[in-house]
Amino acid sequence: MRFLSTLPLLLGAAFALPSPENIQERATGSLASWLSSENTVALQGVLNNIGASGSKASGASSGVVIASPSKSDPNYFYTWTRDSALTFKALVDQFIAGNTSLEPLIQQYISAQANLQTVNNPSGGLCSGGLAEPKFEVNLTPFTGAWGRPQRDGPALRATAMIAYARYLIANGNTTSVNNIIWPIVQNDLSYVTQYWNQTGFDLWEEINSSSFFTTAVQYRSLVEGSNLATQLGKSCPNCVSQAPLVLCFLQSYWTGSYALSNTGGGRSGKDANSILTSIHMFDPAASCDSTTFQPCSDKALANHKVVTDSFRSIYNVNKGIAQGSGVAVGRYPEDSYYNGNPWYLNTFAAAEQLYDAVYQWKKIGSITITSTSLPFFKDVYSSAAVGTYSSSTAAFTSIVNSVSTYADSYMSIAQKYTPSNGALAEQYNRADGTPLSAVDLTWSYAAFLTAYNARANVQPASWGASSAKLPNSCSSGSATGPCAAATNTNWANPGSPSTPTSTGGSCATPTAIAVTFNEQKTTAYGENIYIVGSIPALGSWNADKAVALSAGHYTNSNNVWYVTINFATGTSFNYKYIKKAQDGSVTWESDPNRSYTVNGNCAGTATQNDSWR
Ligand SMILES: *[C@@H]1O[C@H](CO)[C@@H](O)[C@H](O)[C@H]1NC(C)=O
Ligand SMILES: *[C@@H]1O[C@H](CO)[C@@H](O)[C@H](O)[C@H]1NC(C)=O
Ligand SMILES: *[C@@H]1O[C@H](CO)[C@@H](O)[C@H](O)[C@H]1NC(C)=O
Ligand SMILES: *[C@@H]1O[C@H](CO)[C@@H](O)[C@H](O)[C@H]1NC(C)=O
Ligand SMILES: *[C@@H]1O[C@H](CO)[C@@H](O)[C@H](O)[C@H]1NC(C)=O
Ligand SMILES: *[C@@H]1O[C@H](CO)[C@@H](O)[C@H](O)[C@H]1NC(C)=O
Repeated sequence: MRFLSTLPLLLGAAFALPSPENIQERATGSLASWLSSENTVALQGVLNNIGASGSKASGASSGVVIASPSKSDPNYFYTWTRDSALTFKALVDQFIAGNTSLEPLIQQYISAQANLQTVNNPSGGLCSGGLAEPKFEVNLTPFTGAWGRPQRDGPALRATAMIAYARYLIANGNTTSVNNIIWPIVQNDLSYVTQYWNQTGFDLWEEINSSSFFTTAVQYRSLVEGSNLATQLGKSCPNCVSQAPLVLCFLQSYWTGSYALSNTGGGRSGKDANSILTSIHMFDPAASCDSTTFQPCSDKALANHKVVTDSFRSIYNVNKGIAQGSGVAVGRYPEDSYYNGNPWYLNTFAAAEQLYDAVYQWKKIGSITITSTSLPFFKDVYSSAAVGTYSSSTAAFTSIVNSVSTYADSYMSIAQKYTPSNGALAEQYNRADGTPLSAVDLTWSYAAFLTAYNARANVQPASWGASSAKLPNSCSSGSATGPCAAATNTNWANPGSPSTPTSTGGSCATPTAIAVTFNEQKTTAYGENIYIVGSIPALGSWNADKAVALSAGHYTNSNNVWYVTINFATGTSFNYKYIKKAQDGSVTWESDPNRSYTVNGNCAGTATQNDSWR
């Protein structure tokens, strides 16, 4: 996941083929028995990677998911908003399916995210873009190195994970925790999505800064669920309502005619497991085979499944000789060169999961419809497939359901074949011989196993409201700025009476305005005064006559500093310069370039900017 082609990250050892003694013993036995033992390993694999007590997450804060315990080649010992949200969505679904012991961990995750939202980072602050920062240190301090940022799927996926738990709480009479703890966090994420969905950002593999199919899709989903949650709580999210149809409309534009273009930039084919992941994360068990929301059983998603999985058939040695209609090892995209480009466990599981979901939907609907779009997919698994609708009473329906189920299992069998006997799931397995590669114990690999396993067992997540999808007549761009404030209550034991927020780094009542002090070093003669002028009305809109005066109250012989403190709404961004006015009123401007400033939220409510005249 973690490769930014413009950065000199990891090269070297990773490209060597494994020596024979490194080839681990592989899992054997029937698929069913492997699945059942791997299910235990996968859940434990996830739990090991969650702080504070996970056995492989030492140093991570409570409720914080590490991507992998690997600290070098590659170093994934960070927490990613996307991976964490997908992992906790899987855990919430396990919890709802009956594993009640997971609830404290889910609450710790939510509390940690409330805190994380307030951490100023290189993407911005709480209300100025910071929610799209892709990764943080495991103790919830910012990661300040160069990275592919922003990544705009994170807030949407986090909202989806939290909403899944919120729905459960409401259904069980715990609306107070949802109102007082979860909603304020979710609302910030929804506001992020409504404001920024129509801007480019890095894709889920962190490589291309453009528009990404997965990101747009999960953004749409979050707005629908967010709006529904608001309604359930007697609140509203008007921006969700206004932006969701626009996002859905934009989502349609990724369709190429035979598959979904995964990224609008990057100069690749656009065939990418991004789109298969999209179908499983858009799956709604209550929906029909709707292609607008890319349901797993929709003709577009099935056509796409074939195009994407076929793109790996001829390029990986491990796929040699495998016939059409039988599962293969699935990578990210055929042009991939990270670690030389290999299959990934999580994508192989996703290819299976989409098909399990589709089978579930056909059985529920009671028919299968084959269109000219999906015909090539069906031909692979049922040679006499033809365009038309097959009701569940027909032999063709039964044949297709059986062969698609078998086809799904064959992807799981590929993963089984290349999983070591202890069940450990790394990030990748070698395209040449299937040996595990890259980060060990990748949390997302384990979480992807869990969701595929449940899909196979017909343990379905809750509906998110996909059936309400309504396309506007034409697409338009959009953005809507909504409410944003630090979520301060994480008192799960007594959600009606919030505990006192702690100050530094933690949740705090972030002020909606920040008092920014500007210090400007400038030696002046008697009668000269320094002013600040900038692009917003509060700074005179570049009009020197309306500039704000600085004070010489701190000016000494050894420290020639002028200063002023101005209140700005959190999130405000502007350009500015200092000017000098002489006694006769003549104005001297600082030289170019213009300076810029963004007012990031913080707990203290104050900030300082030190400048010197240029
Ligand atoms: C339920 O979750 C706990 C962790 O909280 C785990 O140890 C246990 O194995 C899970 N049980 C099942 C049946 O998956
Ligand atoms: C939900 O309600 C039950 C019963 O009142 C209570 O025991 C439990 O602590 C509540 N859970 C949350 C998360 O509020
Ligand atoms: C913004 O939305 C419009 C309308 O759907 C679309 O044409 C445009 O490509 C979008 N741009 C981005 C960066 O999302
Ligand atoms: C990616 O694109 C966004 C614009 O949507 C821009 O703000 C950001 O700086 C770009 N990131 C990089 C690393 O180029
Ligand atoms: C600084 O901002 C002013 C006002 O927008 C603009 O006219 C000027 O070109 C800017 N200077 C530079 C170097 O960008
Ligand atoms: C600004 O300068 C003051 C005094 O020199 C110093 O204490 C402070 O840390 C500086 N703040 C920043 C944000 O650089």
